[in-house]
Amino acid sequence: MSHRTYNFSSGPAVLPEPVLRRVQAAIWDLDGTGIGVLEHSHRGKAFTAVLERTEALVRTVGGVPDSHAVLFLQGGAASQFYQVPMNFLAGGTADYCNTGVWSQKAIAEARRFGTVHIACSSEAARFAHIPSAAETSWSSSPAYAHFTSNNTIYGTEWTHEPAPPAGVPLVCDASSDLFSRPIDVARYALIYAGAQKNLGPAGVTLVIARRDFLERGARDLPTMLQYRTHAAESSMHNTPPTFGIYVIGEVLEWIVAQGGLPAMAERNRAKAGILYDFLDQSALFVGTARADSRSLMNVTFRARDQALEAELVTQATARGLDGLKGHRSVGGMRASIYNAFPIQGVRALVDFLHQFERSHRGRSE
Ligand SMILES: Cc1ncc(COP(=O)(O)O)c(C=O)c1O
Repeated sequence: MSHRTYNFSSGPAVLPEPVLRRVQAAIWDLDGTGIGVLEHSHRGKAFTAVLERTEALVRTVGGVPDSHAVLFLQGGAASQFYQVPMNFLAGGTADYCNTGVWSQKAIAEARRFGTVHIACSSEAARFAHIPSAAETSWSSSPAYAHFTSNNTIYGTEWTHEPAPPAGVPLVCDASSDLFSRPIDVARYALIYAGAQKNLGPAGVTLVIARRDFLERGARDLPTMLQYRTHAAESSMHNTPPTFGIYVIGEVLEWIVAQGGLPAMAERNRAKAGILYDFLDQSALFVGTARADSRSLMNVTFRARDQALEAELVTQATARGLDGLKGHRSVGGMRASIYNAFPIQGVRALVDFLHQFERSHRGRSE
C-alpha cells in the first residue's frame, strides 16, 4: 500500500481506506455495468439503485423515521444558513444559539428574513464552552430554534440537544458531528450537514427533515429553494450530486460494518480521550475548550509559549501529521479526528507532542 499521511484536516477530511479502495474501483466500473460512477446518467437504473441504497443506509444508520425526508442537496451547509430562514422565518422570530463563527454566519443570513432572538451565547467567553440551560432564554413562540451541534473552529460540542419550549421546531447544523454518535432524529424538525467531514466528499449536503415541517415552508420561492421540491422528487428534481451520494453510501456501509453509531461514539470517545488526557497533564500545551464542552471531533489546543506553534506545525507536517494548524480566525492547533481518523494517528500525534515538549523544556510559561 502506498504511504498515507495522517490527515487532521477539518474538512474535506479523511475517509475510511476501504471506502477509498471501493470508490477507486467504482470510478472505473460501477457494479459491473462497464460504466464508472462519475459517468452514469442520474436517471438510469444503476444510479437509481445507488440513490435508493444511500437513502436506506441513512435511515438505518441514523434511525431516521418515515416522518422525516432524506435529501441530498448542493450549495454546502452555508446554503442552509439562508434556505432555512427563507423557508420558515417569513418575517417572524427565530431563536439561535450563538456558539461560534458558523452559528454567527447562520444568524447573519437569518436576519435577512426576519428577527433573530439570541437564546444563548458563549461569545463573551471566546466560544470556549456550550451555554447551559440556565444561561439560555427562549423567546415566547419562535418559528424554530437553531443550534450548531459541533463547533468545528472552537472544538466545542453539545453533549445533548438544547431544549426549547415544547412544540418549537429544532433545527441543527450538524456539519461536523453528524453520525459520529447516536442521534434521536425524531427530536429534530430539520438537520443539515455538509458531507465533507464525517460523511463523504464536498459537494453534497445531507438534509434530514420532518415532512410536515417542510410542507410549512414558504411557497413564493424559486422552485429549487423550496425543500418540498426535493422531498417530493426524492432529490431528483435536477441532477443530484451523484458521486457524493455514492460515496456517502459507501461510508455508511463502512459505519454499519464497524458496528453503527454506538461503535462510532465509542471509537471517537477513545480517540479524543487519548488527546485530552495528554493535554491535561502537559506543561507546555493546553486545551482551549472548557472540559464540559469538549468536542470529540475537533480537539483545539495551544502552546503556553505561542511562539512555538508555527515550529510545531512545521515539524508535525514533516513527520506525516498534516493539517494541525488551527482555523485562521483563532490560531493555535486543531486536530480534527472524525469517524474515519485512525486511532494510530492520534497515538502518533501524542508521541510527537511528548517529544516536542521534552525538547522544549523551560518554554512552558
Ligand atoms: C459547523 C459548520 N457549519 C457550516 C460549515 C460550512 O460548510 P460548507 O463549507 O459546506 O458550506 C462548516 C464548515 O467547516 C462547519 O464546520
